[in-house]
Amino acid sequence: MNRQKRKGRVVARTGELAQGTTKKFLLKCRGNAIEAVLVNYEGSVYAYVNRCRHIPISMDWVDNEFFNEERRYLICANHGATYEPTTGECIWGPCFGTSLQSVPLEISDGKILAYCPDEEDKGRGRP
Ligand code: FES
Repeated sequence: MNRQKRKGRVVARTGELAQGTTKKFLLKCRGNAIEAVLVNYEGSVYAYVNRCRHIPISMDWVDNEFFNEERRYLICANHGATYEPTTGECIWGPCFGTSLQSVPLEISDGKILAYCPDEEDKGRGRP
């Protein structure tokens, strides 16, 4: 991806998210609004489209609550699909073996910028 020609959106400041917390944000990509979630897992940040790989719906019932109680995995509140926060891979549940669509991030001048994913992927593995 050539990010230099693409415009990132500032979605947070570095240090804004405590470990084990998440923050939802919107991106406008190819004319569509995409809801995504920024994840701080053990001090590193990741971002994924907020769309479960089981059924393409939002994963949080309680707004902005994605981590399980132990703050170890991301959980879909609908049927319990469990995702690895560092890769987005579904490691348990009805979408086992697929992955959340990742959102490219860049950290610059104390800001976290998010970029539109290149294109819709199918989550690797099963549909
Ligand atoms: S919609 Fe996410 S596990 Fe079913």
